[in-house]
Amino acid sequence: MSENVFYGRSLTVIEDLSIEERRYFFRKVHELKDAIMRNDVRTMDSFRIDDPDFGIYEVFLEDSTRTKESFRNAAKFHHAKVSELMCSSSSINKGESYADTFNMLSGYSNRIFIVRSKVEGLCRYLDEESRDYTRRNGLPVKPAFINAGDGKHEHPTQELLDEYTFLEDNGMDFSNLHVALVGDLYHGRTVHSKADGLKVFDNVKVDLIAPSELAMPESYVEKMRENGFSVRSFSSIEEYLECGDVAMKWYFTRPQLERMGERILQKQDELRASITFRREFLDRIKEGTKFYHPLPRHKEHPTIPTFLDNTELNAWERQAINGMYCRIVLLALIAGRIGDDYDGARPQEDRTITDEEYIVNVDLSGRPAGGKVKNYSEGVHPIDEGIVIDHICKGDSPSQIRSHMRLISSVLGIDEGRGGEWISRGADGQYKGIIFRPGSYEFSRKDLKRLAALAPHCTLNIIRAGKVEAKFRTHMPPRIYNFDDLCCTNEACVSNPAQGENVGSMFIRTQDGHYACAYCGRFHTYKEIWKHRD
Ligand code: CP
Repeated sequence: MSENVFYGRSLTVIEDLSIEERRYFFRKVHELKDAIMRNDVRTMDSFRIDDPDFGIYEVFLEDSTRTKESFRNAAKFHHAKVSELMCSSSSINKGESYADTFNMLSGYSNRIFIVRSKVEGLCRYLDEESRDYTRRNGLPVKPAFINAGDGKHEHPTQELLDEYTFLEDNGMDFSNLHVALVGDLYHGRTVHSKADGLKVFDNVKVDLIAPSELAMPESYVEKMRENGFSVRSFSSIEEYLECGDVAMKWYFTRPQLERMGERILQKQDELRASITFRREFLDRIKEGTKFYHPLPRHKEHPTIPTFLDNTELNAWERQAINGMYCRIVLLALIAGRIGDDYDGARPQEDRTITDEEYIVNVDLSGRPAGGKVKNYSEGVHPIDEGIVIDHICKGDSPSQIRSHMRLISSVLGIDEGRGGEWISRGADGQYKGIIFRPGSYEFSRKDLKRLAALAPHCTLNIIRAGKVEAKFRTHMPPRIYNFDDLCCTNEACVSNPAQGENVGSMFIRTQDGHYACAYCGRFHTYKEIWKHRD
């Protein structure tokens, strides 16, 4: 029997499960649902944890009906110990940190936490924190954390049940998916999870239907394209129906008024109209089309009107019912009740993180002895002792370069004393920045890492006795972390100081050269990740 790779695992984002693991999961859901429909008790029992001491704890810091109740019913299916934190009367309201709260609860024999919160990236942080807590206190098992929706970030279990329902309607065929995502694509975490979630299908075509105020954030669109999806955008259902190649699966999301600013709220009727299905559209969609919705629908202004409830379009009710089956299977996998027979691919370890070298110590041994600092023009004299950082922000505008050089000096702590900065223009017409500082400077490995994070693609020349004693070339680090002055720009992120959780920021390089926050996933340029500002 192989090791059960699912045992004790957390699900903080959909990519915590590999594509093969998700496909295995869907086959298990199919098996369980079939058994429940046929009342095949023996097969049902093969999924049950069946342990009254196995603690499953629901912590819903934000409202929920489906996720909370389907998880509660799933946990009861398992004959497990089910608890719920009464958040309105918890000491969280006295300013206790999330880490303290969850660590303490994990000491009470709770093995799986199901967490909904406005705080993005909370589950990933709790998962990290609980490792040390478990070790410090000699607990037999580290708890697992399931993200039941975190702000605008992700809703991985909703993603699993959405995909399962698409698959049911595809005859469990993973080869193709053409889906229209309609509604509030800006605030909707369920559609954000689709940027990675839909990778379980071999060929994916996504049509995004939303007015510009509610459009999918560019970082998710970019991710979809990187994942090989074909992506088209439309500003309204009306415009979409003109295009001639309309999907047979439409996934609606609710305008999330509770997350919108005043400016958008003033236009809510107009925005809602562009993403609400109307009776006159019925004869413009193909037979066999299905509508999906994570629910809830708004009782006064549902974007899927209630006159469609009794039509063949209605897949959203079965989708919500599938939620419990999916959550039963997820709990069974994490508890190690099923999954022993899986021997497919695991998620990429830390996904994009590699140990590649991004600071190159340039070999100067072939240079003539006594080589001078050379070719620094525009009025700056060679310096005998000091540093020159060259090729800063090559290709940017002079004002962008100037601003970033101020940031570099401030973050590296070299903004005092003599020296200066200037901008030069190369033969290729591109501008670049140069910082020079006469004086005695030591660069530790950590300082070089800071420099690479601040100024990738630059060179650092260390000059002693009139010659370049050492030269380093920097590249974009695969991840940036362990510096006190990093800061994710998303105030809802658990690592942002506004949350008061004292979580160190970490950024992971993306395929297109951005840095994604390891907690909330927000994309940043390498210039945007520092607390220091002008
Ligand atoms: N779909 C969903 O997450 O619904 P709830 O907010 O009711 O959990």
